[in-house]
Amino acid sequence: MIRIGLVGVGAMGRGHLEVYIRLMKEDPEIKLTALCDVDPKRFETQTGTLNIEGVGKDQIDFSQFHLYNDFDRMLAEEPLDMVDLVIPTYLHAPNAVKALEKGLHVFCEKPMALTPELCQRMIDAAAASGKQHMIGQCLRFWPAYEKLKEFVDGGELGKPTSGYYARFGGTPQGSFENWYLDESRSGGCLLDQHIHDVDMVNWLFGLPESVSTRGVNMNPGAGIDALSSIYRYPGMSITTEDDWSLNGKDMKFKMLFRQNFERGAVVFEDNVLTVYPNGELSYVPHLPEDNGYYRELRYFLDRVNDDKPITVAPLTSTRDTIRLATAERESARANGDWTAIK
Ligand SMILES: NC(=O)c1ccc[n+]([C@@H]2O[C@H](COP(=O)([O-])OP(=O)(O)OC[C@H]3O[C@@H](n4cnc5c(N)ncnc54)[C@H](O)[C@@H]3O)[C@@H](O)[C@H]2O)c1
Repeated sequence: MIRIGLVGVGAMGRGHLEVYIRLMKEDPEIKLTALCDVDPKRFETQTGTLNIEGVGKDQIDFSQFHLYNDFDRMLAEEPLDMVDLVIPTYLHAPNAVKALEKGLHVFCEKPMALTPELCQRMIDAAAASGKQHMIGQCLRFWPAYEKLKEFVDGGELGKPTSGYYARFGGTPQGSFENWYLDESRSGGCLLDQHIHDVDMVNWLFGLPESVSTRGVNMNPGAGIDALSSIYRYPGMSITTEDDWSLNGKDMKFKMLFRQNFERGAVVFEDNVLTVYPNGELSYVPHLPEDNGYYRELRYFLDRVNDDKPITVAPLTSTRDTIRLATAERESARANGDWTAIK
């Protein structure tokens, strides 16, 4: 039996809550026993506000859980094996370290932490505790991106030559104390939304030699709200773009990529992955139906249960993603100067 405490029941926390409710039906060994949120209103039955269609919108019966408004109190009073941290980014490192020191397994939402140094503290705490710890870089479990990884690693279309990865949507609204628009708490669009594509670039190709980023700020204090980056790899051209300031009333969040190879291309747009082998007709591969939010938690719980190492998203790799994003910010501050990854 794995007894879990979910910390943070905001926009994304409700998405995790829906996954646990499903997992508990599928597997009697999984038991979400407690929820913790500093805001008691989050334990009411209103629907969630996440910008991903179909996620976090269910009506929830909160009476089935032990409810806490204080993390330390939950750690002291609730018998738990694991916590899942779905709280603002500036709280990831301190709360993950605290839970690991208490001897709990820790799943924590992306981005890992605000700086590579804080990431290292999480790695050290996990090593000292011997408990499992993973960051929810969910694209590593998202079927379309997972399929792309197979093409990159397997070589079916030859070597990767050029790629473009992007996401864009509206400015985050209604978050806890508006933390998304405070760069010192969220790292801005660059460390929050764009981190998904930074993590993809790192996961697919490893760290580049250097990066050049141009960024702009629209919301005072929010850091970079829109950006484009070019990554320097030998013999390959990789670019990314992000923008969280598209505030049209019916503008929906979008994520997409186009990866070209020596013998064909793989394109993901409008939630459909299409493979275009050169000189042949395209095809749409069959992919698992579950999204990355379900698949990353299922994976983590299996690792906890089987006591096996985490290989898809090890902590050192998700820390390197933060190192790369940090170099992008440094480059943007220097008007796009090529910047090495420290
Ligand atoms: N993987 C994804 O696609 C994805 C999408 C959205 C958000 N996220 C991540 O999820 C995390 C949470 O984001 P969100 O959009 O849900 O934010 P949010 O502001 O909607 O929710 C945060 C919740 O944490 C609670 N909280 C704040 N301080 C707390 C504390 N000390 N103890 C307990 N609860 C506390 C708040 O009351 C709020 O309910 C962030 O790290 C964010 O980057 C990931």
